[in-house]
Amino acid sequence: MCGIIGIIGKAEVAPLLMEGLRRLEYRGYDSAGIATLVDGRIERRRAEGKLQNLYDRVTQNPIEGTTGIGHIRWATHGAPIERNAHPIATDRVAIVHNGIIENFAEIKAEMLAQGREFTSDTDTEAVAVLLTSYLEAGASPTEAVAKTLPRLHGIFAMTILFAGYPELLICARRGAPAAIGYGNGKGEMYMGSDALALAMLTQRITYLEEGDWAVLSPTGAQLFDADNRPVERPIKQTALSGAMIGKGNHRHFMHKEIYEQPAVIGDTLSTFVNPATRTVALQDLPFDLAEVSRVTIVACGTSFHSALVAKYWFEKLARISVEVDIASEFRYRAAELPEGGLALFISQSGETADTLAALRYAKSQKQHVAVLVNQPESSMAREADVMLQTLCGPEIGVASTKAFTAQLAVLACFAIAVARARGKIDTQREAELATALAEVPSRIAEVLADEEAIEALGKSLIDARDVLYLGRGTSYPLALEGALKLKELSYIHAEGYAAGEMKHGPIALIDDQMPVIVVAPHDELFEKTASNVQEVLARGGKVIMMSDAAGIAAFPGKTLATIRLPDCDPFVAPILYSIPLQLLAYHTAVHKGTDVDQPRNLAKSVTVE
Ligand code: AGP
Repeated sequence: MCGIIGIIGKAEVAPLLMEGLRRLEYRGYDSAGIATLVDGRIERRRAEGKLQNLYDRVTQNPIEGTTGIGHIRWATHGAPIERNAHPIATDRVAIVHNGIIENFAEIKAEMLAQGREFTSDTDTEAVAVLLTSYLEAGASPTEAVAKTLPRLHGIFAMTILFAGYPELLICARRGAPAAIGYGNGKGEMYMGSDALALAMLTQRITYLEEGDWAVLSPTGAQLFDADNRPVERPIKQTALSGAMIGKGNHRHFMHKEIYEQPAVIGDTLSTFVNPATRTVALQDLPFDLAEVSRVTIVACGTSFHSALVAKYWFEKLARISVEVDIASEFRYRAAELPEGGLALFISQSGETADTLAALRYAKSQKQHVAVLVNQPESSMAREADVMLQTLCGPEIGVASTKAFTAQLAVLACFAIAVARARGKIDTQREAELATALAEVPSRIAEVLADEEAIEALGKSLIDARDVLYLGRGTSYPLALEGALKLKELSYIHAEGYAAGEMKHGPIALIDDQMPVIVVAPHDELFEKTASNVQEVLARGGKVIMMSDAAGIAAFPGKTLATIRLPDCDPFVAPILYSIPLQLLAYHTAVHKGTDVDQPRNLAKSVTVE
């Protein structure tokens, strides 16, 4: 996913563009660039690699102008080299684009047949050249855009700068987020991929809807819908402050966000759990939970893992059938969904393309559509019947931590609410569960106090070739999540597996070279998992036991290492046991020297399929 920004201002625009790109760096970071108008001509500065390389480039060769656009790239078409870095330009236009133009080859062939030239391998350049062809045929910028957009297939958020038009930017969105910002002073207008990019400029934001495009001038914005009809969209006051979203005294955003978990879990729980009455209540829903026949939960990556945990909770507590699937599969398998079913979509960003497409399929199948997001103004939030929110604040580290545990906190409350609505638990059981949840923030703080031991263990893993994570019940999705964290941060191959499945194949991997991390709170399945631990030990395997005191005591002196957690109600163990898994992956990566906040090849939210 790429980040885009555009500014019509009165002061020199390059520093503002660069600051905006810095706030978007978590979205993708394999090249970056800015473009401005100098005496009406398009000027560009672009650089491959990290944003710092562009800073250096602009410092060495400053660029003037008060109107400009900027882009930070996560490559889809064309290698991440300077030639393919945005802004992509002709002599008439410069474009920054997030998304994929699926029919770019057809447009490119048409333009080449007209004798027009291309200088990059990107899909975006087909749009720039097509726009230029309309401008050269006498169209105004607005006319050229009105003719170009209907010809594009695919998803995009884009902003266009026009040579000779220092008081004009045109932006458009279809399937990828885009926001307009209104300057506090007269004569300043902005656009960005999201409110975060604009937070240091303005808090007055309009989100473009699907198919919208907008003509920005110093006095404001004129909006058009997909049929080129003028349209009005509300101006909202975004909650994102202009204050620096910094790392505080943490070395990485990820470390800061791991430490924010006691606070954000507490904030998130406080919306649903009443500690005085020890009850749980969701906000009003436009449907009756007691009437829901089946729950379908769809997500990607780490969000998919929280969906898997929720399946156990919903089925065990609410006695309701739950189907969970990854969005990239669900969106194409045309699942038969029951009338009146509930479809829940989990997404930190609220913009993941596969999950958004899956949501739209569920809507077409007349499901009650709920989303669990961290971005309340995201596309998914806007298209759902119900939005549940994780109150995490911006999660900048590409590897999700606080969003994951906050998702679990909300899903735990959701499961309790469904169980109560269906009469499957009584007020006493509800009170027990609410109490266990209310204690989670302080339990997390206890686990964080043991970070030093986990760091030492992380250091011992840096030369591992493979790592196997095992778990049963709600610890099985935790094993998947722990493995995902390790591989996406340290680039060490890791695999999560259901502990009971190990003997059906993965046991062949066991030797004295491969660490086996066992996630096993001392719950009703512990004895079963303990048998799997014995199977590993019997083959010389190196076991790292993640459990409470009773679980650790079951294997005196037999394990390579132990990570001891506080005793807790098994219901909340998935939230608590996420913390050491996050810390272990973090410290392994730090000792390996990988880029913890921006691991190679990854993006914070994948808005392309
Ligand atoms: C999280 O550590 C991963 N970087 C990734 O799997 C992420 O969870 C996934 O891309 C889904 O993102 P979303 O929650 O914004 O939809």
